[in-house]
Amino acid sequence: SQVYLNGAFMAPQDARISPMDRGFLFADGIYEVIPAYNGVLFRFDEHLDRLERSLREVQIINPHSRAQWQALCEDLIARNNGGNISVYLQISRGMAEKRDHAFPDPPVVPTVFMMTSPIAVPAADSPDTARGYGAITRDDIRWARCDIKSVSLLPNSLLRQQAVAAGAAEAILLRDGFVTEGSASNVFIVQSGTIITPPRSHAILGGITRDLVVELCHQHGLPLEERELTETELRQADEIWITSSTKEVVPITTLNGHPVGQGQPGPVWKALAHHYVRHKR
Ligand code: PDD
Repeated sequence: SQVYLNGAFMAPQDARISPMDRGFLFADGIYEVIPAYNGVLFRFDEHLDRLERSLREVQIINPHSRAQWQALCEDLIARNNGGNISVYLQISRGMAEKRDHAFPDPPVVPTVFMMTSPIAVPAADSPDTARGYGAITRDDIRWARCDIKSVSLLPNSLLRQQAVAAGAAEAILLRDGFVTEGSASNVFIVQSGTIITPPRSHAILGGITRDLVVELCHQHGLPLEERELTETELRQADEIWITSSTKEVVPITTLNGHPVGQGQPGPVWKALAHHYVRHKR
């Protein structure tokens, strides 16, 4: 396999970054994960919109035009034999001369790293036979700007590890009694046939998959509300789903060890998953 680092493609073991890189010292960087199906980038413009926004919010200068980013992604996908893969793309503020919390002045050249990973067959691809997954709830211990796709993922990592230790797939996060999102996903519930997901805000990452699910609900006349979701509503939900670019739309069938609804992937999820798969093709 091949990765990309600062202008060159290479084997992963040949990629070298200085420990003085601010990505290493301060987790001072942002990232994106863009899926490709049969080697073709999916929702590329939406991912690049968010990349540009994250860069702007943390004042890192975008080192490439959109056309250059697309060419780099496509080149990397081809070098990794295409198929169903995700492109991971990270930009850090670059290498500093000394460790100083404030930005280097004048700015240094940002570090750009890209790699690919295979995407496992998502649950949405087999909605009639899909099994569900477990989730746990935890306090959302993250910062107040979760809308920025920052590489500072220590809280997310700690929370996901707690889910894994509990035999679950995801930790669903609660702030002041309201659902924010998962450790690496957005959250939807179904309540008496209505689909509900928290609104975009600084408290959650504006998921590309989330937005697509919202779009598909509108397109196919599935009732949907974007509004605050309480912990009680989560616990009493008929269905819970989580969404992300690498997992698509996944049914959660146990919450803290208790069955969600009938304890099976629900009918509304199945309907949505069929729409999702048809949209991908
Ligand atoms: N994570 N919320 C968080 C905190 C996330 O990290 C992610 C995605 C999402 C879903 O966003 P999207 O649908 O655009 O992938 C929501 C990526 C996949 C990751 O960190 O690997």
